[in-house]
Amino acid sequence: MDWEDEEHNRQPGREGDEQSHATDGTPARYERGKEIVSVCRMPSRPRRSCLAVPASDLRKLEKAATLPADEVVVDLEDGVAQADKEQARENLSRAKARGTLAVRVNKGSIEDIEAAAAVADVIVVPKVESPDDVQAVILHTELPLEVQIETTLGLVNVEAIARSPHVEALLFGPGDFAASLGVPVLTIGAGASEYALARIAVAARAFGLQCIDGPHAALEDEAALRASAERALSFGYDGKWAIHPSQLGVLHDVFTPSTEEIERAERILATDGALRLDGEMVDEATKRMAEAVIARAAPPSAS
Ligand code: COA
Ligand code: MG
Repeated sequence: MDWEDEEHNRQPGREGDEQSHATDGTPARYERGKEIVSVCRMPSRPRRSCLAVPASDLRKLEKAATLPADEVVVDLEDGVAQADKEQARENLSRAKARGTLAVRVNKGSIEDIEAAAAVADVIVVPKVESPDDVQAVILHTELPLEVQIETTLGLVNVEAIARSPHVEALLFGPGDFAASLGVPVLTIGAGASEYALARIAVAARAFGLQCIDGPHAALEDEAALRASAERALSFGYDGKWAIHPSQLGVLHDVFTPSTEEIERAERILATDGALRLDGEMVDEATKRMAEAVIARAAPPSAS
């Protein structure tokens, strides 16, 4: 499946989407032939891997520009020491990405938003807790936004936040969320996050957005990274943040359907009505599941 195929990738449930029936919070629906279906479509911007890079570190900024991350998230916020904030903003002019270039701003910093808007494809807004937090950014830029849900209040308001204009993805922030909830863990990505992950995913899909899991800080534990990414995938997530180049391969592996999965999905799509296939019952619902799997096929340029 070609990720450039606009018809296939159209986001449901957003303003300006001719096919959308969802302006009132109901799940998006699509006409396919005579039938109305409700299937998750991947937007055209892949985000299997979103690599965070502190804007204060020029060496890493240069390196990030050469890496196969679907998105590079140049960070002005928590990855930058307080004393380096100004230099970090100046370094933005050196930021590049092979895929999407995102910049994470400090919440409430107009200086950051203006500096980010000059170079970025998309702006990452941290610690969003209400639609007003989104509005405050929209006053200064028309760029698409990714918003981080990483506090208990943000989670309680996530459905209203997901309905805000300009937002194209919801991001889970596991470190700040654990702190906000009072979970006694000291590793970003550790701790039980199932409720937050599920609620964010449902809010995202209900309004045609992507959902992206946050980072896993245990750099030397590939098995834990894989388990964390697989958990996010099982909730329907499109991708996950990376903090180191060594994490990209695992994320691409987890968030890209295998050849076998694609082949099976295609065989399911060729069926009609309820029947037995490989020892399982398949029917029209299975076909919609198959479409959702095929929609995750990798973009042609990705590794
Ligand atoms: N982006 C781009 N390149 C990176 C990178 C990143 N996030 N992390 C490491 N690299 C590069 C290094 O520059 C180095 O390349 P080089 O040998 O060509 O110089 C190579 O990968 C190996 O780096 P390594 O020595 O293993 O990393 P480190 O120990 O110096 O740094 C971290 C570890 C965690 C501090 C670093 O990976 C990092 O800054 N990650 C992002 C942190 C961040 O943005 N946090 C906030 C959001 S969650
Ligand atoms: Mg955070």
